[in-house]
This record gives sequence, C-alpha cells and structure tokens, in this order.
Amino acid sequence: MIISLRSISYDDLKKQLCPEDKIVILSCDTCVKACGIGGSARMKQLTGMLQADGYTVLGIDLISIGCTMNLVAHHRDNRKEVYDEATVVIPLICEDGLVGVRKVFADKKIIQVAKTVGIGNFTMDKGVVLTHPFESTGLAQNDDGYPLAEVAKALQLFPGFFDEKDGSPSADQMVKLTVDGKEIAAPAGQNLLAACLANSIDVPHLCFQEDLSAYGACRLCLVKIKGRKGLVPACCTHVEAGMDVCTDDAELQHCRRIILELAMASGHHDCLTCVKGVPSPFATCELQKYVRAADITESRFASFPVKLPEDDSSPVIFHDPNRCILCGRCVRACQELSGLSNLGFVNRGDRTVVVAGLNTEMNQSDCAACMACVNVCPTGALTEKVVYFSGKDWTPSRKFMSL
Ligand code: SF4
Ligand code: SF4
Ligand code: FES
Repeated sequence: MIISLRSISYDDLKKQLCPEDKIVILSCDTCVKACGIGGSARMKQLTGMLQADGYTVLGIDLISIGCTMNLVAHHRDNRKEVYDEATVVIPLICEDGLVGVRKVFADKKIIQVAKTVGIGNFTMDKGVVLTHPFESTGLAQNDDGYPLAEVAKALQLFPGFFDEKDGSPSADQMVKLTVDGKEIAAPAGQNLLAACLANSIDVPHLCFQEDLSAYGACRLCLVKIKGRKGLVPACCTHVEAGMDVCTDDAELQHCRRIILELAMASGHHDCLTCVKGVPSPFATCELQKYVRAADITESRFASFPVKLPEDDSSPVIFHDPNRCILCGRCVRACQELSGLSNLGFVNRGDRTVVVAGLNTEMNQSDCAACMACVNVCPTGALTEKVVYFSGKDWTPSRKFMSL
C-alpha cells in the first residue's frame, strides 16, 4: 500500500484559491482512502468546508484507481462539461497519481494535498502503518510499521484530514424524521436508506452501494412510510421532514423472504463452494448473509434451468454469471468509478446477463483491471481470480443448491 499523509493546512489550501475559482475535487478510492485522506466521505467533507467559506465547488469525482492515468482521462471525458468549466482541481491522491492528474488536467490549477512517504501495510491493532519509508524521509525501515500519527509528527505533516473545521451540514440543512419510532436527523436530499444506515438502522439491501448512484433493482430495501400507499424502496426515496418510516414488520419480512428466495432460484448459488460464501475464509457474500439471517433453507421456486458459460479469459477477474443477481452494482461501478462503461446488461427478462464490451470475453474488452466491479459485487459472480482458484481443489462435480 502506498502511504500518503496530508501535507498542507486548510488555510494554506485557501491561500492557493481565488474567490472566483471553480473547483472540482477528485479522489482515488484505494490507498489514500485507507490512509484517511481520500474517498467520497473526505471529498464531501472538504466540499462542505469550502462551500461554507464561499467557494464554488462544481463537483466531486471518485476514481477507482487514481494512479491509472487512462482512468483519470476517461473521467475527464465522461464529465467533460464539469471539468471544462473548472479552473481548479484538488486531487486527493498519492504523488504518483498526481503525476497523471497533472498531465490529464494540464490546463487547470492543481493543488497538491498529499505527500507520499513510502510503502506500508495494514495491521488490526495499529491500522495502516508505514514499513518502508522513502529515503528522503530520513526514517529507517521498520518491519513492525510506524503508525501514521508518528510519521506525521516526525515529518511535520498532518495526522488526519482537514479536521480543524467541521464540514458537516449545518442544522438548517438537516431534516428530522422518525424511523421505527426513533427520531433521526439526515442531510436534506439524502436517500432514506443511506440515512437509516448512517443511524445504525440496518435495512437489508443488495443493489445499493455507497458511492454509486441508486438503482432500485433488488427491492430488498422496501419500507413503509406513513401516509403513502404500498411499499417504497428506501434507496430511491429522499428523506423528508416529518416522515414516519417503518423498516421492519411481518409484511416486510414476508416480502423480503420472497425476494431472497427468488434471488436464490434465479441462478446457481453453490454457496458452499463459492469463495465469497461461508465456509470460505473470504466469506463476504451479502446475499448469503441475508438468506441466513432470514433462516431460508430452501426456495419455493424452481432453480433457473440453464447454466451459463463462465468467463475466465481475464488474467485477474473470474466472471460466473450463474451467481449474478442482476443488481447492477458492477455496471455502475465500471461507469461511475472507472469511467469506462465496459460492463452492461444484454437481453431481457430471465435471459438478462452482465457482459463485458460488446458482449465479448473480458480479455477482449476495454477492461482496465481496476477491480471496481469485483469490489462491489455482493455475490460470487465477480471475483478476484487469485481468490476464486483458492477454492478450486474442493469444488464438487455434483451441482446442488446449498446455503
Ligand atoms: S470491467 Fe471491472 S475491472 Fe474492468 S474496467 Fe470495468 S470495473 Fe474495472
Ligand atoms: S455481477 Fe455482481 S455486481 Fe454485477 S449485477 Fe451481477 S451480482 Fe450484481
Ligand atoms: S437496495 Fe433499494 S432496491 Fe435494492
């Protein structure tokens, strides 16, 4: 992992700005995010601070891997109108990524925020640590790793993000609503699902993913809102002052159960042999998590009879469409985080599948191997190849549905 720390104060950042500047903040979604100075939450925080001080922020832009220069260029092309209007780009990115940003935005003022100090890793007790500092830092190699606060102190950098000022919305930008009898406050315009999750109210969801646009495909996040007919998807509903929301009752549980049973029947979910399912040590399958929580052990619906061909043409990604639930997260990640739009849906109804390029094999498509799609996939449909094949030895030949 590339280790970067913040190199300038908020006041120094403002000294490099003019009141008439039009700003875009972009961020890499990998190392700088882990180091606490990048990612969408940090971009939103900085936006709030700058806007409170009267600056014009045209937008924020999250890039799956910021040091991949062609992805940065794709983002510029895809958001041409915004970037053309911008006079300043503030990249939350390591110094290597900054080289590419300077090339892609050669006509803009670029304000460097991060200083890259070396290479490190992550430990459970210390978090991100610096193990191999660059020679220029004067620090010795340390296999146990220097905590970032220690590095910041030694190198006169900043231990956190721009925390001196609170960039969160002011009280008049918040609305109050009631969820399951509890009063919560959420920024006006936020979607109801994000507001619930931010307040530790766990509404089941599969197609929603923080950082991606809401899609409303899976319907698992259905809730009841007093005064509105029927059930509404929380991810596609904006919070409103005075809303009275119910996220959990017998009817909602019944609906979610049907949705989950249909999802399990829609493909071939051989969970016991999936690298994202229990008992794999990498178990991260969100579908299996909800199926287990709902105590579903069999589906009333017949499994989809056709087995679709897998795609192992990519050197890094394994695509098994039989485990796909058509949530669309990968399609949106490829469009919104990588800027490539290399993935899309083809066909209709129960024949719908996710494909790469113009319905070709992954290695024949425009894939940049940024792994944004793999990282957001809630099932074992898209997996990192090295992980997928770690379970290959015990894959059975007899196919069955297993939870
Ligand atoms: S298909 Fe996946 S890995 Fe390839 S560019 Fe798109 S998001 Fe990145
Ligand atoms: S491949 Fe994964 S992320 Fe993409 S639609 Fe299917 S389940 Fe969702
Ligand atoms: S998470 Fe809301 S519809 Fe899928």
